[in-house]
Amino acid sequence: MIIKKPPMGWNSWNTFGGEVCEKVIRDTADAMVELGYKNAGYEYVVIDDWWSERKRGADGKIAVNKEKFPSGMKALSDYIHSKGLKFGMYSCAGTMTCGGFPASFEHEYEDAQMFADWGVDYLKYDFCYKPMHAVGKLLYNKMSMALKATGRDILFSACNWGADDVETWIRSTGAHVYRSTGDIFDHFESVKFIAQSQFDKINYSATGCYNDMDMLICGMYGKGLVAKGGCTDAEYKTHFAMWCLMQSPLMIGGDITNMNDYCRNLLQNKGLIAINQDEDGRPPMMVNWNKDRPVFFKHMANGEYVLALFNLSDEDGMVGCEFFDIGVSADHGFDFVDAISGEKIGVVSENLYETIPAHDCRVYRGKFVRV
Ligand code: GAL
Repeated sequence: MIIKKPPMGWNSWNTFGGEVCEKVIRDTADAMVELGYKNAGYEYVVIDDWWSERKRGADGKIAVNKEKFPSGMKALSDYIHSKGLKFGMYSCAGTMTCGGFPASFEHEYEDAQMFADWGVDYLKYDFCYKPMHAVGKLLYNKMSMALKATGRDILFSACNWGADDVETWIRSTGAHVYRSTGDIFDHFESVKFIAQSQFDKINYSATGCYNDMDMLICGMYGKGLVAKGGCTDAEYKTHFAMWCLMQSPLMIGGDITNMNDYCRNLLQNKGLIAINQDEDGRPPMMVNWNKDRPVFFKHMANGEYVLALFNLSDEDGMVGCEFFDIGVSADHGFDFVDAISGEKIGVVSENLYETIPAHDCRVYRGKFVRV
């Protein structure tokens, strides 16, 4: 299986944590279709940790928690597929998942087959309780091969939180996406910390294997498992724009059955999603190397370019760059539109500086033109 765009979907962890259950998954699948998310490109519905019993069953398999998932995983998978969506599940490379449930260490081939038998299309594979003597790289390689051996197309999502310089070897294991940071929390400090930690690793994300900066917190507003006070609308916009620009997978972590209009529209914003899903898969270039007020420039497959200005600092202030710092002389410029609102900006040459409120951003997209 080769992936040419970062995956888009929803994952249960950020909001529901250990409360994940069949009803949540069915309601989410319904909302995905009825509220426009599927049309916008979201397709995977992923169950994270806490779906099984505490011990493997007598047959040696991971036993589904029947109270939480009374119909079982195959029926749930069929339901998700009947909506034209894809089904994702979670296990872990260690002896237990992070929540203390059975994991796949030394059960890789049988567990992979069980997931394939259920019709799973996506496996998130965590890193807790990894025995010290076991090499993470080989454990990811092993599960990747076990998934391929099933003959089913299963997107393999590695989640070792950026440990062991993962970006330098993960591509060689066959993984399609890899978590590059610790867990996200629903406040702007977390968004900023994760974003800044990846600025010097931008080039380790490309077609075939993308850097996963963790599930989105848009729309949580301080409610749910990873809530830590919540964000403002502008902060959620900055978060989403950054994840789109960095071509992170777009896995919604908020409750889409209960999302306000602002965040539903944001998560379905065509301009930002087009940047994220660009098939050329080129990482952005960081123009000014100011980690608090970064400016990024990106080539798009359709011949357009993106210029994105972020103010991650706590003060309103000027963000921008001279175009000669991208290699553009004064006789050329860009015919920009605002990529988020679609508003026409017109031709801009020589430089672009704007006063941007704290925690806000601007994203422009357009053709390179002679002025
Ligand atoms: C963490 C992982 C989270 C979530 C959690 C479940 O290790 O980073 O995204 O999956 O485990 O226990």
